Amino acid sequence: MNPNLDRSSHVNHQPNAKANSSALTSVTVIGLGAMGSKLARTFVNSGHDTTVWNRTPDKAAELVGLGASGATEIADAIAASPLVVVCVLDYDAARHILEPIGDNLSGKVVVNLTTGTPEQARTMGTWMSSLGAEYLDGGIMAVPSLIATPHAVILYSGSETAYGTYEQVLDSLGTSHYLGPDPALAPLNDLALLSGMYGMFGGFIHAAALAGTEGAKASDFTTSLLMPFLQAMMSTLPEMAKQIDSGDYTAKDASLAMQAAHDTIGEVSRAQGVSPELFTPIYELMKRRVEGGFGGDDFASVIELTRKRPSS
Ligand SMILES: NC(=O)c1ccc[n+]([C@@H]2O[C@H](COP(=O)([O-])OP(=O)(O)OC[C@H]3O[C@@H](n4cnc5c(N)ncnc54)[C@H](OP(=O)(O)O)[C@@H]3O)[C@@H](O)[C@H]2O)c1
Repeated sequence: MNPNLDRSSHVNHQPNAKANSSALTSVTVIGLGAMGSKLARTFVNSGHDTTVWNRTPDKAAELVGLGASGATEIADAIAASPLVVVCVLDYDAARHILEPIGDNLSGKVVVNLTTGTPEQARTMGTWMSSLGAEYLDGGIMAVPSLIATPHAVILYSGSETAYGTYEQVLDSLGTSHYLGPDPALAPLNDLALLSGMYGMFGGFIHAAALAGTEGAKASDFTTSLLMPFLQAMMSTLPEMAKQIDSGDYTAKDASLAMQAAHDTIGEVSRAQGVSPELFTPIYELMKRRVEGGFGGDDFASVIELTRKRPSS
């Protein structure tokens, strides 16, 4: 815990319905792009005394009209609040902005919601500690229009003290998930969730292309057949996750040998004039696993071909 943690403006004053669940504080938002602007607007609407700064100052005008204070100098923006939320394009931009005023960050809580890598988050966390700031990294699993709704999931990791102090304030942005003290955890889980999303999107694109070869409209196919099917399949994920955790992949319903016996999806795709390239990597992994002697396993055992091996 940082003994210099500046809580001087953390006031338990609750003037409106939204603020009933969150102690009011002063917050500074650095970066007023599509996401930063929405974060700043949400803090203003939640009753927080909000100061904003952006490289291109014009973007602050609308927020100032709503009640935010616009800072011209980054040093003034930092001085205005104990809580500093950074949301800019990338970590290089964040570092570029904060480096000249690094000494002013002592005693502050810095919440960096800029998208980056686990390594960048750790490096930023180490740098912030060296400056005497408490650091929380974050991953926003939402688009700006979802911010301030429960559908906006925001992952946090880093200083437990910082999260404990400002959890209620951060909750105004969406549904918060704190993952642990290592700053790398938020970006790592952010990227893991996005890879799950892209897997689903890839499957959707291939399925719509295949069904479309005989005239099905993508919208009809998606709502009447694909979504109900995928929702049913989703219920099998917890069981697959248990198999991954235990290492026991014994097939209960559908063995890999059965699933990979023929490349029917690939063959039919080609015959119908659809490129199988979104599906082929999955098929190849199933086949390799069967060839490796694991045909009696469930699909989840494919992870043994892709995950990091424990170092011996
Ligand atoms: N938008 C989304 O749906 C979404 C969703 C999840 C996460 N995110 C993440 O949120 C962060 C911001 O996204 P955004 O949508 O707000 O992006 P954006 O609309 O492109 O805004 C980028 C922001 O970064 C600033 N910036 C860029 N380069 C800079 C530099 N070299 N020095 C100083 N400031 C610089 C821009 O300042 P200027 O105005 O002066 O150009 C602007 O404030 C990104 O890391 C993004 O991955 C976005």
